[in-house]
Amino acid sequence: MSTPVLEVRNLKRDYVSGGGLFRPAKVVHAVKGVNFKLEKGKTLAVVGESGCGKSTLARMITLIDQQTSGEILIDGEKVDKSQGVTKAMRQKVQIVFQNPYGSLNPRQKIGDVLAEPLLLNTDMSAAERREKAMQMLVKVGLGPEHYNRYPHMFSGGQRQRIAIARALMLNPSFLVLDEPVSALDLSVQAQILNLLKDLQDEFQLTYVFISHDLSVVRYIADEVMVMYFGDVVEHGTRDAVFSHPQHEYTRTLFAATPNSSVESIRARLAKKAAAAA
Ligand SMILES: Nc1ncnc2c1ncn2[C@@H]1O[C@H](COP(=O)(O)OP(=O)(O)OP(=O)(O)O)[C@@H](O)[C@H]1O
Ligand SMILES: [Mg+2]
Repeated sequence: MSTPVLEVRNLKRDYVSGGGLFRPAKVVHAVKGVNFKLEKGKTLAVVGESGCGKSTLARMITLIDQQTSGEILIDGEKVDKSQGVTKAMRQKVQIVFQNPYGSLNPRQKIGDVLAEPLLLNTDMSAAERREKAMQMLVKVGLGPEHYNRYPHMFSGGQRQRIAIARALMLNPSFLVLDEPVSALDLSVQAQILNLLKDLQDEFQLTYVFISHDLSVVRYIADEVMVMYFGDVVEHGTRDAVFSHPQHEYTRTLFAATPNSSVESIRARLAKKAAAAA
């Protein structure tokens, strides 16, 4: 078997908060010991209810936040934030958030947003950077005419396309998507999910996809990992987890969610449109 793109071993993160002269500090065990390996070209979905540790895990594997203990290996190489992370290693991991607007500078043209990682990390010429940014705009379903526009001139779905494009500019080893479609309308959700799938097929991309929406997970995932209060309670192929959930929590989670797919998203959408007409 080839080297996994990403491997984590017994990864933990505690948060210590509060604490004062007469108050003891409170420790939250946000992530309690996660293990997984992810192969190139695959999507691992991480699901679980609010506060179970999904974003904490995302921040650790994208080297934003340091783990309390445990190991992270990227392309087989151990990465330890406390010992410094090389620029090359940092480029290998990219993250897309739920609301990309917050991370876009309102005064920066979209072309420059995309070209910036190339400016900072490569010795490409201005013309080459421009060319690559133009190509990436097209890849994510936008066009060269968008190059000189500002973030406020785009819809939520288009901004998410821009965030995906920016994340891909430096050919990362893997992409973490933290609730990337949760703030979008259903029809736009389906478009962005299709885009992610197309890009994955074309570039053999590897995704860690965080979502609380099981219909989305069912559509996008190869493997599903279910988290509950910082623990992984279930991890298997999508089909195994959906058809034979082993853990009680997974069954409850699934029971609370309509058992749907993109087909049923479309059906729900058609129903909504019919009701509006
Ligand atoms: N910086 C922090 N300081 C203290 N506690 C934190 C911090 N970040 C997260 N936590 C706590 O860690 C736990 C996990 O939070 P996390 O944001 O990872 O959850 P999540 O699964 O992403 O939730 P959601 O679905 O709402 O995004 C929660 O109890 C949260 O309050
Ligand atoms: Mg979160």
